[in-house]
This record gives sequence, structure tokens and C-alpha cells, in this order.
Amino acid sequence: MEGNPSLRKVGALRSGSRLLTAALLIGSAAVGAQGTAGSGPIANCIECHGSDGIGTEPDIPHLNGMPEHLLTTMMEAFRDGKRPLKVRVHREIPAGDVAPIARHYALQKAARPKSSTTPELVARGESLYLKRCADCHLDNGRDSDKEAPLTAAQSLSYLVAQTLAYKTGERKFPYLMDGAYRDLSNEDLTAIAHFFAAQDQVAPQQGRRRRR
Ligand code: HEC
Ligand code: HEC
Repeated sequence: MEGNPSLRKVGALRSGSRLLTAALLIGSAAVGAQGTAGSGPIANCIECHGSDGIGTEPDIPHLNGMPEHLLTTMMEAFRDGKRPLKVRVHREIPAGDVAPIARHYALQKAARPKSSTTPELVARGESLYLKRCADCHLDNGRDSDKEAPLTAAQSLSYLVAQTLAYKTGERKFPYLMDGAYRDLSNEDLTAIAHFFAAQDQVAPQQGRRRRR
């Protein structure tokens, strides 16, 4: 399974989070030549989310370009136990670090590496998306209403796992999303994940007048 390396990473973190934290802090001082990537509030995030917000393993989400208030909500959901905690660091973010971390990742503009998707699933996903998901995950997942996270160009294996996690009950449905999911099969939901993953994070024609 392609997620294994990061699962090992998560496992290592669980068993030795303090050691890893220390290692990252020491590491950041030692690799000063690479710039300030390892310093400041994101020091404990870069191993998995990079300093540019690009996930370092397939099942780690990209955070770059996600609006600040959504990143804040996500960090609070981990801390308040509203979302299952797989990575202990997510619960240990000091309250004062939440805003600077959200600002940092919101401003990152690196191009997300595209996951490889299946054209037939993308097409099937598109028609389901338009009927069921487009009200909140606006503009093919590039924009958001009702606090929906941006999903365009997100990592495919992350999207597949999270899309199904609501159906299994691992993640609790937000307001009205259970209705949107009604009667969709796992194959339908996987197809929508392929559709989101295949989108450009910034619409090509909007690239020039992109909001900052
Ligand atoms: C050991 C790897 C690892 C580290 C370190 C880590 N994360 Fe994560 N992060 C993940 C994984 C895996 C997920 C997705 C699974 C989950 O929900 O736990 C995730 C999910 C997230 C999400 C939710 C994204 C979304 O689209 O819903 C946010 C926000 C986030 N991490 C922020 C952070 C911040 C901020 C830090 C540093 C304080 C951090 N993470 C450190 C692995 C990591
Ligand atoms: C009524 C608004 C609404 C509709 C319709 C909706 N969603 Fe969502 N979606 C949300 C909100 C709000 C969240 C964030 C909740 C959370 O953190 O669990 C979310 C989160 C998600 C996530 C997790 C993203 C991440 O970064 O972790 C996925 C995947 C997702 N939705 C897929 C879908 C799919 C597929 C559909 C259509 C079948 C859909 N949603 C329809 C509001 C909506």
C-alpha cells in the first residue's frame, strides 16, 4: 500500500513525539544553510507538510493556499477532538502558534504535484460532483462555501481516504454533507475524489488575476 512510509512516520511520531520534536528543532538549527524552513511555529509540521505546504507522502494533505480561517478551523477540530487524531502533534499546537501557522500555509504558492488519476473516474466524478457537492465545494473544489475545505489538486490517496471516512463514521458529517452523500456508493465517492484530485488548484484562465 502506498501509504505505508507515512504510516511508519506517524507511528514513529506517536511513540516518540518529544524526541522527534527535539530532533526537528536541532535539525532546523543545523540546516540553517537551507534557509529558515525549519524555524518558528511550523518547525513541527515540515517533516510531513513541508514548509511550502506540499505533503511529503501520498496520504498527507497539501495545505498550501488553503484559506487562513479554514486552516484555523482544522487545527481547532484536531485539538478539540472533533476530528480523529492520528498524529499527536496536531493536538499539541500551542494556541499562540495557530494563527501564524495558518497565515504561513495560506500564503504558500508552490504548485501541487498532481496525483495520477483515471480519466473514466474523473468523468463519472464530475457529474456526481455537480449534482451533490458543488454547492459547498465551489468551482471544482477551488473555492469554498459553508466552511468546506478546498479540495482541488489535493492528494488523491488523502482524498479517497477522507471521502470514505465520512461514510464509515470515522469523521463526523458536517452540516448537510450527509444529505449530499445519500445513496452514493464507495465507487461513486472514489470517483469524486479522482475528480477533485485532477483539478488545477488555480483555474488556468484565472491564473493572472489570482487573489493574494
Ligand atoms: C507525522 C506527520 C505529520 C506531522 C508532523 C503533521 N501532520 Fe498534519 N497531517 C498529517 C496527516 C497524515 C494528515 C491527514 C490525516 C489526519 O486527518 O490525521 C494531516 C492533516 C492535517 C490537516 C488537515 C488538512 C485537511 O485538508 O483537512 C492540517 C490543517 C494539518 N495536518 C496541520 C498540521 C500542522 C499545523 C502541523 C504542525 C504543527 C502538522 N499538521 C504536523 C500528518 C502530519
Ligand atoms: C453543505 C455543504 C457541503 C456539501 C454539499 C458537501 N460538503 Fe464536503 N465538506 C463540507 C464541510 C463543511 C467540510 C469540513 C468538515 C470537516 O472538517 O469534517 C467538508 C469536508 C469534506 C472533505 C474533507 C476535506 C479535507 O480536506 O479533509 C471531503 C473529502 C468532502 N467534504 C467531500 C465531499 C463530497 C464528495 C461531497 C459530495 C458528495 C461533499 N463533500 C459535499 C461541506 C460540504
